[in-house]
Amino acid sequence: MALLTAAARLFGAKNASCLVLAARHASASSTNLKDILADLIPKEQTRIKTFRQQHGKSVVGQITVDMMYGGMRGMKGLIYETSVLDPDEGIRFRGYSIPECQKLLPKAKGGEEPLPEGLFWLLVTGQIPTEEQVSWLSKEWAKRAALPSHVVTMLDNFPTNLHPMSQLSASITALNSESNFARAYAEGINRAKYWELIYEDCMDLIAKLPCVAAKIYRNLYREGSSIGAIDTKLDWSHNFTNMLGYTDAQFTELMRLYLTIHSDHEGGNVSAHTSHLVGSALSDPYLSFAAAMNGLAGPLHGLANQEVLVWLTQLQKEVGKDVSDEKLRDYIWNTLNSGRVVPGYGHAVLRKTDPRYTCQREFALKHLPYYGMTEMNYYTVLFGVSRALGVLAQLIWSRALGFPLERPKSMSTDGLIKFVDSKSG
Ligand code: MLT
Repeated sequence: MALLTAAARLFGAKNASCLVLAARHASASSTNLKDILADLIPKEQTRIKTFRQQHGKSVVGQITVDMMYGGMRGMKGLIYETSVLDPDEGIRFRGYSIPECQKLLPKAKGGEEPLPEGLFWLLVTGQIPTEEQVSWLSKEWAKRAALPSHVVTMLDNFPTNLHPMSQLSASITALNSESNFARAYAEGINRAKYWELIYEDCMDLIAKLPCVAAKIYRNLYREGSSIGAIDTKLDWSHNFTNMLGYTDAQFTELMRLYLTIHSDHEGGNVSAHTSHLVGSALSDPYLSFAAAMNGLAGPLHGLANQEVLVWLTQLQKEVGKDVSDEKLRDYIWNTLNSGRVVPGYGHAVLRKTDPRYTCQREFALKHLPYYGMTEMNYYTVLFGVSRALGVLAQLIWSRALGFPLERPKSMSTDGLIKFVDSKSG
């Protein structure tokens, strides 16, 4: 326990339970992630069963009429294990902040940024992995990366005016021909084994995503040139940047950081909640993640990555680069008064500077030259590749913990008025 308290102090973790989880299993030194999960899952099932037996009827919060009309903001209604968002401090992955992850997660040889493989390991197990565990994951993903020929043909036949996010989501849906879970379910697999097949599908999907994303990029912006072959000696991000056609080592480092920090943002955001909801119908990971990508493609969610740059570029074009505060204020008011939003400004939960911004700014101040990736329509695809790590780590746990079909109760405005009247009258 003293160790735990010291660790909690060291990492400033608010959520001690993941530290408990990590400490309890820190001795698990296998490099096989599935073996470690097989050890963790029954213990976590028992912990939750006991907790629910003792506190199943405890009240967590109140639901107001405004919450129901207001996008359910602040309503606590989901269990999502892999990360928690603090409005002031930002995201914590299994209790670890972004600077802690940058410090503690294994790096590539000669690199300074965390490897996304390490973050996935952390999200799945609650443990900071060893270098061996991370390199096992890199190899595992490299082995599973091949795309079925029908998906390659599909990607090569998309019209060039189809948005990269639509291409991403459609190809992921088509990848469900490879689903081990869907096949096993059709054959009548025992529900206790669901997580094992879901795990296999999640690992395969994460492995294949960089190939899909790189193919989209090459088809749209590099005259359909080949993505080349996966190198089983390289990490996931390095293979991705090679396939995209970027050979600058610093760009690969940036991608390692980017793909790590955008992986997860607790459970209520549109992409995480969508995969959670669709997965609860026992749709396989490909279908669940494709649905998440359709949500990420919305301008109020992931597409804000694209929208914000388009808006800033337009601003520079219209008012020039050396713009006075007054002119800038007018431009912003014009956008708002014409009924549009200023893209990327404001957040549903965060109230302070997003630590994802802070660490990318630090990277930029230290290194940033002009890398050459200027295709703004493509930026959300990079976000999507990263988001897979978080939502699929959670999907494995959702099936391991036997979460049921999500089916909240809705009300009509008439019904709600009657309900409120009957309460107050
Ligand atoms: C995200 O990373 O998902 C976005 O910041 C949106 C959110 O958290 O609501």
